[in-house]
Amino acid sequence: MNEPTAKAIATIRARIAGRVPKVAVILGSGLGGLAEALDDRLVISNRELPGFPYPSVTGHAGDLVFGALGGCQVAAMTGRSHFYETGRADGMRTPLSVLRALGCEILVLTNAAGSLRPEAGPGSLMLITDHINLSGTNPLIGPGDDTRFVDMIDCYDPELRARALESAAAQGVDLHQGVYLWFSGPSFETPAEIRMAQVLGADAVGMSTVPEAIVARQLGLKVLAISAITNMAAGFDDQPLDHEHTVAKAAQALDGMTRLMTAFLRGLG
Ligand code: HPA
Repeated sequence: MNEPTAKAIATIRARIAGRVPKVAVILGSGLGGLAEALDDRLVISNRELPGFPYPSVTGHAGDLVFGALGGCQVAAMTGRSHFYETGRADGMRTPLSVLRALGCEILVLTNAAGSLRPEAGPGSLMLITDHINLSGTNPLIGPGDDTRFVDMIDCYDPELRARALESAAAQGVDLHQGVYLWFSGPSFETPAEIRMAQVLGADAVGMSTVPEAIVARQLGLKVLAISAITNMAAGFDDQPLDHEHTVAKAAQALDGMTRLMTAFLRGLG
């Protein structure tokens, strides 16, 4: 365990008074409001935690929030480190290692994404069934041991996906399913790149999640990932793409995401 990880664990343990989070949740652009739905909240700023990202992206608060949702103890990060902010794909390794060490067994990743499926329009939710890493990088590149050769079959846990689909149905929340393709960003894609993504089998595109899922699988966390669709991908319509629109549209998906997550977590903890 490296020094930032050990220090962050000690800082958190001194504050959370014996709570053991079972599920870690990463809240993407415009989705930080889900942390406000937690009962018995305890908020620690990422500024206090070595190795935790202090986001430079609007719509990402940069806190670690402990509390209960659906009766399950969770630790929610409002915001993440993106590859495009630092040029490093492993920017979430310390936070994920810390959350694992605190007791988390499950990681729920949320993000904002562009849709390639006309039936999954802005404001809707998509369960990620698999991903394509088109970024040319990988968070496990670099010094390491044989655990870096991570099996990526069923990266997005089939049992957790089934549970998410049941929870969505029970809540009357429409949950589409599809393959997420990681582009590095921060520029949005060109229409030609989106036509390529379509040929490759992508249903949604975004700038996060994939490196975190890879690190999480190496750490032995079970992973679930859900996209809030904020726009149709470039070239599908004539809506210009910008970050303000992304945050505003993700907020429209927040209510469904919160109901789905609350039902998903009920009985887990
Ligand atoms: N492309 C990449 N990332 C995104 C998009 C998109 O269209 N929308 C929200 N995040």
